[in-house]
Amino acid sequence: MSDTTRAADASTSDTNAAGNTFRHALGHFATGITVISTLDAQGKPYGATVSSFSSLSLDPPLIQWSLTTTSYSYPIFGQAKHFAVNILASDQEDVSRTFCKPIDRFAQVESLIGLEGLPLVAGCLGWIECSLEREIEAGDHTIFVGRVVRTRVADKSPLVHWRGCYHPLEVDPVC
Ligand SMILES: Cc1cc2nc3c(=O)[nH]c(=O)nc-3n(C[C@H](O)[C@H](O)[C@H](O)COP(=O)(O)O)c2cc1C
Repeated sequence: MSDTTRAADASTSDTNAAGNTFRHALGHFATGITVISTLDAQGKPYGATVSSFSSLSLDPPLIQWSLTTTSYSYPIFGQAKHFAVNILASDQEDVSRTFCKPIDRFAQVESLIGLEGLPLVAGCLGWIECSLEREIEAGDHTIFVGRVVRTRVADKSPLVHWRGCYHPLEVDPVC
């Protein structure tokens, strides 16, 4: 039996036991974690924890992320013309957890004000401020494409999510 076949067999039995093969496989892809922030229709700061963020295009500068259409957050981001990607640093696991909870999330964290009045989470390792370029329906999610208006970074290590757990990545930022 080849290594590849053996690996596939092992994976199949593990995931059947877990009962959700697709989600289980996706969790094996390590991601950074962001909070996507915006202003709601009343002008109140709002944000949600999102790991589906990725780069999309350099010219023009575009990024993307996706949001489940059944979420409470969906109509809020659906009306927004601007949003910010707050890239979480290794010491911000509590921020990631806060921005999943049914509470006034921005009341729990220190924040800054960005372009267009966008709320930004303080202490992140980077901020990418965007105007909404387009929305694309895709299954039970909508993909938000943002045109990058401003980026800023700090010299910090990232928070990584892998196999359902948080992993503060403490590395020398000069690599
Ligand atoms: C590490 C992590 C990553 C997440 N990534 C996403 C994502 O990419 N898209 C999404 O729709 N929800 C994602 N979520 C779930 C949302 O943060 C969560 O459902 C939302 O904030 C709370 O749901 P609500 O919008 O219905 O209040 C993620 C949650 C965690 C903990």
